[in-house]
Amino acid sequence: MLPIPERMKAMIDLTQRCYDQIGQSDSTVIFFGDKVLKISRESVESWQEMHMMQWLSGKIPVPDVLCTEKYHRLDYLLMTRLPGVMACDAYYLARPKELTAILAEGLKMLWAVKDTGCGYNCNLYKKLRMAHHNVRHDKVDLDSRVFAMLGEKRFVSPEHLFNWLLEHRPEEEPVLSHGDFCLPNIFIQNGKVSGFVDLGRAGIADKYQDIALCYRSLRQNCKHFPEDFDPDSLFEMLEITPDWEKIRYYILLDELF
Ligand SMILES: Nc1ncnc2c1ncn2[C@@H]1O[C@H](COP(=O)(O)OP(=O)(O)OP(=O)(O)O)[C@@H](O)[C@H]1O
Ligand SMILES: [Mg+2]
Repeated sequence: MLPIPERMKAMIDLTQRCYDQIGQSDSTVIFFGDKVLKISRESVESWQEMHMMQWLSGKIPVPDVLCTEKYHRLDYLLMTRLPGVMACDAYYLARPKELTAILAEGLKMLWAVKDTGCGYNCNLYKKLRMAHHNVRHDKVDLDSRVFAMLGEKRFVSPEHLFNWLLEHRPEEEPVLSHGDFCLPNIFIQNGKVSGFVDLGRAGIADKYQDIALCYRSLRQNCKHFPEDFDPDSLFEMLEITPDWEKIRYYILLDELF
């Protein structure tokens, strides 16, 4: 069991401890009643998450940051628990049209934040630099299911994919981006987005960063949806003509993270 800093212990009810089962990263998320403690390895991402959560407060629904601390080379973030359920809740998996409309509203909420003084630039130059670091330090585990979904057979290694991404950079349209816009990171209550979590990659990035991962998340959940549902309806709800090259590009880029 990870140690909890004394200052945080004083703010939570330790008897209500309950662990999250959803997260797949190496962070630990513990629920204490209406509060949530996220413990991550000391990193730029966990630091960015704390800052973005504070910066986004009042602009879009995010948890309130209650306390942050560096302790034993770990980053601790104590925040309020979001109301509602995750977008991957069984209720919404059974109602994908309603779900897609809510996700489209969530994307529009982010794009409506016009004040870009958040201080975190997540443009391609920066993302590719981080991707290169991950490739060089052997931190990449390519997911064959994603390549199968894209019908992609070209890439034999992370280096190969990285070089292709470097050579095929699309033009960027900067907006406020969540950075990991997938169903478990979006909360819904009463048919509306009630909050966003997992903000370690949030910042200013191309519009298609979030469109692509939202679309991927819908496609990945298709097996749970009724058969007549078409994930491409996301684009109608966003009122855009999809740029398939960019969608491919950002889904492939995410493989290096
Ligand atoms: N403030 C919060 N309120 C409610 N639930 C939360 C909160 N923070 C985290 N969770 C829950 O914990 C899960 C994991 O949290 P988060 O996504 O931040 O961690 P992670 O380990 O980075 O996850 P992953 O990398 O797998 O997406 C979320 O999907 C959500 O269900
Ligand atoms: Mg998450």
